[in-house]
Amino acid sequence: MTLTPTAVTLPEVRRSHDGPFGVYVHVPFCFTRCGYCDFNTYTPAELGGANPDAWVAALARELELAAARLGGPRADTVFVGGGTPSLLGGARLALVLDQVRKHFGLAEDAEVTTEANPESTSPEFFDTIRAAGYTRVSLGMQSVSPRVLATLDRIHSPGRPVAAAREARAAGFEHLNIDLIYGTPGETDDDLLRSVDAALEAGVDHLSAYSLIVEEGTALARRVRRGELPAPDDDVLAHRYELVDTTLRAAGMDWYEVSNWSRPGAACRHNLGYWGGGRWWGAGPGAHSYDGDLRCWNVKHPNAYAQLLGEGTLPVAGFEELSDSDRHTEDVMLRLRMSDGLALAALDSGERERAAVAVSDGLLGSDGDRLVLTDRGRLLADAVVRSLLG
Ligand SMILES: C[S@@+](CC[C@H](N)C(=O)[O-])C[C@H]1O[C@@H](n2cnc3c(N)ncnc32)[C@H](O)[C@@H]1O
Ligand code: SF4
Repeated sequence: MTLTPTAVTLPEVRRSHDGPFGVYVHVPFCFTRCGYCDFNTYTPAELGGANPDAWVAALARELELAAARLGGPRADTVFVGGGTPSLLGGARLALVLDQVRKHFGLAEDAEVTTEANPESTSPEFFDTIRAAGYTRVSLGMQSVSPRVLATLDRIHSPGRPVAAAREARAAGFEHLNIDLIYGTPGETDDDLLRSVDAALEAGVDHLSAYSLIVEEGTALARRVRRGELPAPDDDVLAHRYELVDTTLRAAGMDWYEVSNWSRPGAACRHNLGYWGGGRWWGAGPGAHSYDGDLRCWNVKHPNAYAQLLGEGTLPVAGFEELSDSDRHTEDVMLRLRMSDGLALAALDSGERERAAVAVSDGLLGSDGDRLVLTDRGRLLADAVVRSLLG
């Protein structure tokens, strides 16, 4: 039985907003699924054969409809993520950016990032996307340890991410990120330190390090439940985080968000937009958008997505209007994770009292105007946020 997808109709845009605007594009394809990942992505087998050209055509239609709805704000930042954008190949990624340019327009100094999996890149790939206008590449390295990569089901060889980073630099990319995962069962301190060193040697100006989350419904969660792999241990995770932070600081990078470090001036502007209350349109299956008042999200399956767009309908599955209280909660959650911190003036009196307790516990620092996580506070960021919100 084939279900006919339905879309919800969004209310009219209530008012226009100033400030930076971003476009996110979600590419829902991966060659294989990594056992720890629950992102909205599909292998060719799961789709009965992927059709990237049909996806690009549907995406172009969504960008057209979204720009018409929002009045086409020029994009200050673009981020193509996934899934595996590099599986599309350089020429299709160039088409994706052309469509953003055509329907929204790009600011002159726009930051344009694509994620890339090392195994689906090449010198030609980087040359093509650089020439097309991409300014930044984010490579999923995860680890240099063959044992860790095997546990994560990553299919690239341990040396490929560094080679890919060099190729990207040779193609003219100054802005490069590498993603690492720490806390994988079987990982040692030495595995992690070698991974951080390799990323630094590759010449990146940005590094994201995520603790491995055991997501419900993944192959990793099943292996942990069966006792085949131990669950990541909180103390080990905290220690590994400190190793990353110390090594990166010694190399001249600093944190600007709990899981993100950069050289001066190399923070990811697109992500700063999300965390700083900015607006963005998220195009592609399952992508979320926020226009300053309303949050909405697309249908998840690529076939439903393509069908709705084929009918000329924005493929929106749901939306919510954020109340002032929702917005406040999000603001506290997101801003407190950043090194710029949170203005004390944004808090009510109860939150200020609880913040004072976190300051005296050494989890938050305060200069009287702003609250910023201390080094110890960063290890417990989620708990600090929860305690502040009461
Ligand atoms: C969803 S991937 C998309 C980009 C690309 N496919 C890749 O794997 O690098 C973005 C980042 O999220 C990380 N990620 C996905 N699931 C995770 C999990 N359960 N715990 C920690 N990091 C995760 C990935 O390892 C990757 O670095
Ligand atoms: S981690 Fe990246 S490559 Fe692996 S399944 Fe998730 S999106 Fe795909």
